[in-house]
Amino acid sequence: MPYSALSRLECPRCGARHDADQVQGTCSCGSPLLARYDLEQVRVAPRDIAGRPPDLWRYHELLPVRAAGRVVSLGEGMTPLLALPRLGRALGVPNLLMKDESLIPTGTFKARGAAVGVSRAAELGVAAIAMPTNGNAGAAWSVYAARAGMRSLVVMPAAAPAITRAECAAAGAELYLVDGLIGDAGKLVAAAVAARPGCQDVSTLREPYRIEGKKTMGLEIAEQLGWRLPGVIVYPTGGGVGIIGIFKALRELRELGWVRGDLPRLVAVQSTGCAPIVRAFGAGAAVSEPWPDAKTVAFGITVPKALGDFLILEALYATGGIAVAVTDEALLADQREVARLEGTFICPEGAACVTAVRELHESGWLSASDEVVVLNTGSGLIYPDTVPCRAPVLPPSGSILS
Ligand SMILES: Cc1ncc(COP(=O)(O)O)c(C=O)c1O
Ligand SMILES: [Zn+2]
Repeated sequence: MPYSALSRLECPRCGARHDADQVQGTCSCGSPLLARYDLEQVRVAPRDIAGRPPDLWRYHELLPVRAAGRVVSLGEGMTPLLALPRLGRALGVPNLLMKDESLIPTGTFKARGAAVGVSRAAELGVAAIAMPTNGNAGAAWSVYAARAGMRSLVVMPAAAPAITRAECAAAGAELYLVDGLIGDAGKLVAAAVAARPGCQDVSTLREPYRIEGKKTMGLEIAEQLGWRLPGVIVYPTGGGVGIIGIFKALRELRELGWVRGDLPRLVAVQSTGCAPIVRAFGAGAAVSEPWPDAKTVAFGITVPKALGDFLILEALYATGGIAVAVTDEALLADQREVARLEGTFICPEGAACVTAVRELHESGWLSASDEVVVLNTGSGLIYPDTVPCRAPVLPPSGSILS
């Protein structure tokens, strides 16, 4: 049995097929490409997976890297699926779980897409990559590129989390800041790549394998529940790679017969400061319109127009899901509430999902019997300024009042 069952790349918009063993970007129609597998060839059973090392490569048949020796790894994957009993009771959803991506190299789930994307790019002979980013993806791709011995060019908004810049710089990336948003960074990258033959543009959904890395969140959730699916999965949606990947993973698992029944209802969470998917979902539209003046403290989900918007919306419609927008004020309050009740300091994007659960329960969309998994996509440590902390400074001779 081959290490990977990858068979081809397919365009979800026009149906065109592309050779998966050549470096590919988007389809000629402009759509992202999706990796397809010959699932008949997958002879492994779920019980065999249990004995494999605890990283995302345990699902290698369903990943695009063809040879085990080409895997570039920092030990990513198999993050905890934590029960949140106190928070769940407080929100009226006692069966609340959190897939906690803060325990992964670079501190965000972006490591998954980077591990698989960089591994596959290196396997196909790519020597240099370039990308725009809201910070976290740039940090992840630059460290994995360094590990692969590949050059990287990263452009991020000047307002992106400062620590992600430091990580890119430490890993030797060629780093630029732009006084604008991720779309502006994307234009700079596209122009640079055009002038640098051999450099691959690995912008969100402009190469096909980042989705494959992120889909492992869906595979792990199913495995960690004993090859069973939850009722609802709640995801902080920017470019939407994670939610598209999770939807893809769950469909592949069902086709393999590893899970049965209805897919979870998928929830895309955005900020009221940047909610193009929520607006499109409310209108029943198939694609989104660019969101003007996008701004939110949940920086990773500041994406005014996602290339894969039609795939995100399809995932919501197909699963009976929903899209919701929450305010920065509410998500910041919930970031502290999660730490106070459950002892875990999550990122603002993850906190947005908690607020969404709160609001969806209040509106009656979620009920007390629903088993709900929220994605915490990263560590709160990446955003140290989101929690005000006014601790008194005492002189050494000072005293603490009782
Ligand atoms: C912490 C965090 N959460 C969520 C997202 C959104 O990711 P996706 O492209 O999967 O929608 C990002 C993207 O930068 C992020 O950094
Ligand atoms: Zn196409």
